[in-house]
Amino acid sequence: MEKYEEAHKLVIRPSGCRIVLTKRKEDGKHVVIKQIPCNFVDQDAITEEAKIIKSVPAHPYIIKYLGDFRTNGVYNMVMEFANGGTLFSYVQKRITNDRIFTGSKNALQQYYKSILKIFYQVAQALDHLHTNGIIHRDVQPANIMLHNDNKEKKSLIKLIDFGCSTSKKYAQSDKGTLQFMAPEVIQNKPYSYKSDVYSLGCSLYFCVTGREPFQGRDAKPAVLFSMKQKWEQRPSQMLAQFQLPETVSLILDETMNLDVGNRCDMNWVLNKLHDENVE
Ligand SMILES: Nc1ncnc2c1ncn2[C@@H]1O[C@H](COP(=O)(O)OP(=O)(O)OP(=O)(O)O)[C@@H](O)[C@H]1O
Ligand SMILES: [Mg+2]
Repeated sequence: MEKYEEAHKLVIRPSGCRIVLTKRKEDGKHVVIKQIPCNFVDQDAITEEAKIIKSVPAHPYIIKYLGDFRTNGVYNMVMEFANGGTLFSYVQKRITNDRIFTGSKNALQQYYKSILKIFYQVAQALDHLHTNGIIHRDVQPANIMLHNDNKEKKSLIKLIDFGCSTSKKYAQSDKGTLQFMAPEVIQNKPYSYKSDVYSLGCSLYFCVTGREPFQGRDAKPAVLFSMKQKWEQRPSQMLAQFQLPETVSLILDETMNLDVGNRCDMNWVLNKLHDENVE
């Protein structure tokens, strides 16, 4: 840790994992260090997240990995700092501060536009992962960071948290995550790239309604699965009061299809969002 200035904690997870913000002494750059206690999961699982993120060719919408080191029983993963908070807190702030769901129709439509812009970037990040043979497996608004690039004067998303591919056991115990999981994942059936598509749909659902698609944060996997199964209608049919743009309705219906075979793929989502975001 001698290469870094004193760290400020951002998050401490019940698992013992800490996320800290610090400055690299060499160049004064802000970086984030994810600190995982080594006794927490098996050694291979600890380094798996780093292995995966290292294997992905750099992409503007995926958090940049800057290296790793060990200190007194802690595995430290250094990465770029995303300065705009999570998509989850962005949505919560917009609902509370800007009252988007109770304000003017125009403001709501502008909000939806901004969400579609964000999701176009998320879909590009996921498509890049898939092209490189990786399934994220934990796509949710808390794993999508917002970042203002001051130099380029651009807002970018940064996909984070590649810790689920092998350390699924502790990821599954996180109830927040279950809400966004594809039914085949909840049932422990084989994953596919389309499991990320489903989670992308649930994340979009959260952003356009301000609530998780399946209420019941404490529900057990089997209960949650049966809740998902009971959804006979298409998601958009239950959301008439939100006056969703057609593209949003279409994406929700296609991505949140319980049947993997009939679910759209990431390419379809990407094309829809591309058409929507072309000025
Ligand atoms: N690079 C980053 N820049 C800014 N904040 C970050 C960054 N990485 C993580 N965070 C913050 O820390 C939180 C937790 O990070 P992360 O999702 O990687 O850990 P986790 O959910 O505990 O992971 P896991 O699912 O592997 O247990 C994020 O939701 C975000 O608030
Ligand atoms: Mg996370």
